[in-house]
Amino acid sequence: MPLDMVIGAQWGDEGKGRMVDLFAEKASIVARFSGGDNAGHTVTVGSQIFKLHLVPSGLARAHTIGVLGNGVVINPNTLLKEIKILEDGGVSVPPERLRISPAAHLITPAHRALDAAQEKMRGKDSIGTTLRGIGPAYMDKTARHGIRAAEMLDEEAFTDRVKAHVEAANRMLTGVYHAEALDSQLVAAEYLEYARQLKPFIGDTVGLIAEALQAGETVLAEGAQGTLLDLDHGTYPFVTSSNPTAPGALTGLGVGPVWVNQVIGVAKAFQTRVGEGGFPTELEGEMAVRLRGTGENPWDEYGTTTGRPRRVGWLDLVLLRYAMRVNGFTHLALTKMDILSGLDSIKLCVGYQREGVSYQDLPLGVYQMELYQPVYEELPGWVEDIQSARVWQDLPVACQNYVRRIEEVVGVRVGWISVGPEREQMVRLVDLE
Ligand code: GDP
Ligand code: IMO
Ligand code: MG
Repeated sequence: MPLDMVIGAQWGDEGKGRMVDLFAEKASIVARFSGGDNAGHTVTVGSQIFKLHLVPSGLARAHTIGVLGNGVVINPNTLLKEIKILEDGGVSVPPERLRISPAAHLITPAHRALDAAQEKMRGKDSIGTTLRGIGPAYMDKTARHGIRAAEMLDEEAFTDRVKAHVEAANRMLTGVYHAEALDSQLVAAEYLEYARQLKPFIGDTVGLIAEALQAGETVLAEGAQGTLLDLDHGTYPFVTSSNPTAPGALTGLGVGPVWVNQVIGVAKAFQTRVGEGGFPTELEGEMAVRLRGTGENPWDEYGTTTGRPRRVGWLDLVLLRYAMRVNGFTHLALTKMDILSGLDSIKLCVGYQREGVSYQDLPLGVYQMELYQPVYEELPGWVEDIQSARVWQDLPVACQNYVRRIEEVVGVRVGWISVGPEREQMVRLVDLE
């Protein structure tokens, strides 16, 4: 019943896509509320692996309607490609199955060029963005001259707007960043074609969601990115340009807090990060390779969007408790537990230290986090392969203890433990109501 949220509790890539796919079973609407095609959500259904960047992962279930909310930034080219990927995979996506908010903003090639130019200018201080134009698109939005999806409905005015937008961006690209200008005519023509194809998908998303909630149907808000990448609450400036946290789901969809039912925080059983920025529990050497994988398995830690090897480390419970506070998780879902099988021991960061002083929580949130040293607890590992575990009792005691310790320190119950990428590879500890 009403609004459930699936929120990344770390730096993204926690396995939100596969959790959304699970919860979408009971949802009538699955809605993205922030970010754009910087996301990469993998859903494994039998032999099919869907790698989705923009459309809600919940569309992989045939009964759902997908929504791209007002908080999303849309690259129309990616969107059309993904609709095709789903259709080629036997999942049909007619306009009745996907609704685009009129207030969502569009990403253009000018935004992508600016993203690249800004990263280049930052030099050694670069953020390591996905180069998808996300930051510049949100900059245009907050500067109040972004292009909104609804503008695609008036072809002539839209063409003029895109042209003027590219020309304005060109002045920045050439004047400030010494980068190449784009052909505004060509971009406008390209976007006119997208507008023609996407028009039927644009409609009132606020009303659609409100009516579903009033009818008692479940609406699932699909988080992209993660709490530590949140513009306000993350490890600024090494963050994305939106609010991928639970509060962001409300503004990003236009829903009041009264409708919120469950807020599920998705966390990997260890921790990863792509791009720059602090990572106190980061590992190097043999253990890093062990957790990352070498790239031969589809789930090994290489970015879905950029192919970059992900940085890996031990699970940081101080940061997870911080994420718990920012989002108000009702439960945690722990993913990739199977990857920890076979380790002699597993470390958990349970506190921090600085100049001889111990901290249970960082005194300034994640600000200057790198000045603190993690304090670890070492727990015994387990040798058993847990990929076929389906209930709590199937898990080795050492694994159960690992989960219990996480619950204790973070102060929230673990509701799901995933033990492989497949739909069924899930230990369910609670059933959502
Ligand atoms: P998202 O961005 O949060 O949706 O996560 P990604 O899809 O980018 O990254 C998660 C990766 O881990 C994907 O390749 C998933 O198929 C894979 N995955 C998710 N859960 C599990 C699990 O329990 N075990 C294993 N081995 N892989 C998993
Ligand atoms: P999903 O939804 C992991 C990171 C980038 C970079 C920073 C800013 O798959 O979890 P941006 O292009 O957004 O301006 O980049 O944010 N980033 C992600 N990291 N998973 C993601 O999405 C990410 N989306 C953005 O690597 O550090
Ligand atoms: Mg991802």
